[in-house]
Amino acid sequence: MNLQHKIAVVTGASAGLGRAFSKALLDRGAIVFGLARRADRLQGLREAWGEAFHPVACDVTDEAQVTAAFRQILDESDGRIDILVNNAGLGRFGAIDELSVDDWDVQMATNLRGVFLCTRATLPVMKAQNRAHGFGGHIVNIASVAGLVGNPRIAAYNATKFGLRGFSDALMKEVRDDGIKVTCLYPGSVATDFADVAGTSGSPNPMQPEDVAGTLIHVLEGPDNYLVSEVVMRPLRPRG
Ligand SMILES: NC(=O)c1ccc[n+]([C@@H]2O[C@H](COP(=O)([O-])OP(=O)(O)OC[C@H]3O[C@@H](n4cnc5c(N)ncnc54)[C@H](OP(=O)(O)O)[C@@H]3O)[C@@H](O)[C@H]2O)c1
Repeated sequence: MNLQHKIAVVTGASAGLGRAFSKALLDRGAIVFGLARRADRLQGLREAWGEAFHPVACDVTDEAQVTAAFRQILDESDGRIDILVNNAGLGRFGAIDELSVDDWDVQMATNLRGVFLCTRATLPVMKAQNRAHGFGGHIVNIASVAGLVGNPRIAAYNATKFGLRGFSDALMKEVRDDGIKVTCLYPGSVATDFADVAGTSGSPNPMQPEDVAGTLIHVLEGPDNYLVSEVVMRPLRPRG
């Protein structure tokens, strides 16, 4: 897909990977609708990046807020969505017998329910685009290496990202004949606020968000009948 003038929706755009994805898409000429709860941060990005970046305050776990956010996006985009990046997510790490129900619920709600709600809001738009133009769009889900291998103290996070892998694989098979590509990315450690939120120290030598964004752009720019359905990326030397 040529990204020039395409409409991209990026969840979790206020920080980390979502911010890097948004910037990389803008640099390729896309128009980006960035969703997150911290509206002040999104507004700051609009001031820095210009009016091709549209801030949309939204908690992706809240059905009514997601409905309102997509209504705003479709109003401002002439009813188009070419790209959805389901990136908003978090970890809350800890031993299973020490994890609170809130810690469990917020990971499930953000990493799975939020992906479901945003995907559900996007699919009718992409299916209509496919009927009109023969190509629907591209949905990219940000899972994690934690969606491929389990580890102590991250069981709830593992459960969400393994779940996201299943959702992505099923979605890919469900909508490919509607001209919609689905890709699931599995990054290892990236230098973002993720580790602080998760309550862990993180990797001493993580990847940079801009490097992961380079892979997102590569995957999006592939030819129409060429689908990269999964990509795993890791720091070469995680311990430095
Ligand atoms: N960093 C890593 O090592 C790593 C590795 C593999 C996968 N990932 C995945 O990459 C994704 C992005 O994480 P990150 O590393 O960029 O972390 P981050 O720097 O903490 O950013 C997380 C983003 O998600 C947003 N967010 C969280 N809850 C939200 C909600 N309920 N509604 C809307 N937005 C919400 C945050 O915005 P607000 O707080 O403003 O709402 C923020 O923009 C996550 O899915 C994470 O699981 C990260």
